Amino acid sequence: MSTTTTLSRSEQLIELEERYGAHNYHPLPVVLEKGRGVFVWDVEGKRYYDFLSAYSAVNQGHCHPLIIDVLKNQAEKLTLTSRAFHNNVLGEYEKYITEYFGYDKVLPMNTGVEGGETAIKLARRWGYRVKGIAENKAKVIFAEGNFWGRTMSAISSSTDPSSFKDFGPYMPGFETVPYNDLTALAKALTDKNVCAFMVEPIQGEAGVVVPDENYLAKAKYLCEQASVLFIADEVQTGIGRTGKMLACDWEEVRPDILILGKALSGGVLPVSAVLCDDEIMLTIQPGEHGSTYGGNPLACKVAMAALQVLKDENMVYNAFYLGKYFRTELEKLKHPFIKIVRGKGLLNAIVLNTDDEQAGWDLCMQFAKNGLLAKPTHHYIIRFAPPLCITKEQIDDCIKIIKKSLDEYTKS
Ligand SMILES: Cc1ncc(COP(=O)(O)O)c(C=O)c1O
Repeated sequence: MSTTTTLSRSEQLIELEERYGAHNYHPLPVVLEKGRGVFVWDVEGKRYYDFLSAYSAVNQGHCHPLIIDVLKNQAEKLTLTSRAFHNNVLGEYEKYITEYFGYDKVLPMNTGVEGGETAIKLARRWGYRVKGIAENKAKVIFAEGNFWGRTMSAISSSTDPSSFKDFGPYMPGFETVPYNDLTALAKALTDKNVCAFMVEPIQGEAGVVVPDENYLAKAKYLCEQASVLFIADEVQTGIGRTGKMLACDWEEVRPDILILGKALSGGVLPVSAVLCDDEIMLTIQPGEHGSTYGGNPLACKVAMAALQVLKDENMVYNAFYLGKYFRTELEKLKHPFIKIVRGKGLLNAIVLNTDDEQAGWDLCMQFAKNGLLAKPTHHYIIRFAPPLCITKEQIDDCIKIIKKSLDEYTKS
C-alpha cells in the first residue's frame, strides 16, 4: 500500500504544498475549501469560526454575496486594461473612494506593501519638491516593531531579525524610534531631512500593540510642527476593524497620507490604495509610478462594493460594540492562563501567562480542534480578529470555545 492512501485528504494536500511550494509560511495544519460570513470549512467538512479573517482582509465576511455578485458581473465584462488606456470604472471608483475618506486624490495599487512603497515614494518626492530637502538626503522615520510587508524597503525598516536578517544590504534613509514614544519621535523630527513618519495606529503583527491615548494626535502635531508628513499605515487597522472607519479616527487624526489594503476588497482580490491631497499626490507625474493591475476595473468595482457593504450593514458599529463585549467577556473568564487582554474594536489579542515559546501554537491547535481558527502573532500572543459581521450569539459561542480550549490546554 502506498503511503498517500493512508493519509487524510488534508494531509495529502499539505504534503503537496510541502513538496512543491516554497517553505516561507508555517500554517496551522488545516486545509480550507469553503467560506461564508464568519465561518470556514475544511476539506473534511469541519466548520470553524475564522478569528484571523486573513489578517483582517475579510472584514466583510467570507464570500459576501453582494461583493461576489459585483465581482462576477464585472468579470464577464472587462477585467484589465492596464493604465495604457482609460477604463469606464476607474474614475467612478476614484470619485467614490476619495469622497468616502475625504481626500483630493487616490493612487490605486494592489497589495498592502505596494501601498507602503507608494506612500514612501510620494513622501520622498514631496520632501524634495515641496519641503526642499537636498537631493538623496530624505529620511523616513518608522516605529520599532512595525510591519508593512516583505519587500526590500519593508524589511529595511523592520526591527524583527526574522524579517531582515541575511537579506541586506538595506534601503538607506530609514530610521526607527520606539513605538509610543513621543520624546524619541520629537528628537528624530529635529533632523531637517526627515520627510515623513510612517506608523500603524495599532501595531497588528507586533501583537496588537495599542499605543497610549493621544499618541497619534500628539505624533501628528509634532509632525505638523516639523513640516513632516504623517503617513498612517491602516492596511490592517482600517476599514472598520477597530470600531471606527479608520483607527486614526479614534483620535480625530487626519493622516497626510493614508494607506489602505486588505479589506478594501473584502478579501476577494488584492486591492490597495494610497490617499492624499494634491500638494503631495501631484508631485508624481506620468511614468513615475504605477502597476499593471493597479486601478483595474474588476478591483475598482469590488472595492466600491466592499466599502458600500461595510456602511450598509453597519459593520463599523458592530466592530465597536461587539469588540467591547468580547474583551469584557474574555476578562470575565479571569483565566489564569490569560495575562493581558488588549485591542480595539474587533482587533484584539491575548497575551498568555507563560514563557513557553510553544504555548501560542499549541493553544491555537486546541482552538482549531474545538472549531475556532486563530494564529499566534508571537510565541505567546494570540490575535483574535473575526469578520466584522459576527453576531453577539456567535461571540458567546466563541467565548465558550476559547474557555474550553484554555481549560483543556492548561490541564494537559
Ligand atoms: C499594517 C500592515 N501594512 C502592510 C501590510 C502588507 O500587506 P500585504 O501583505 O497585502 O502586502 C500588512 C500585512 O499584514 C500589514 O499588517
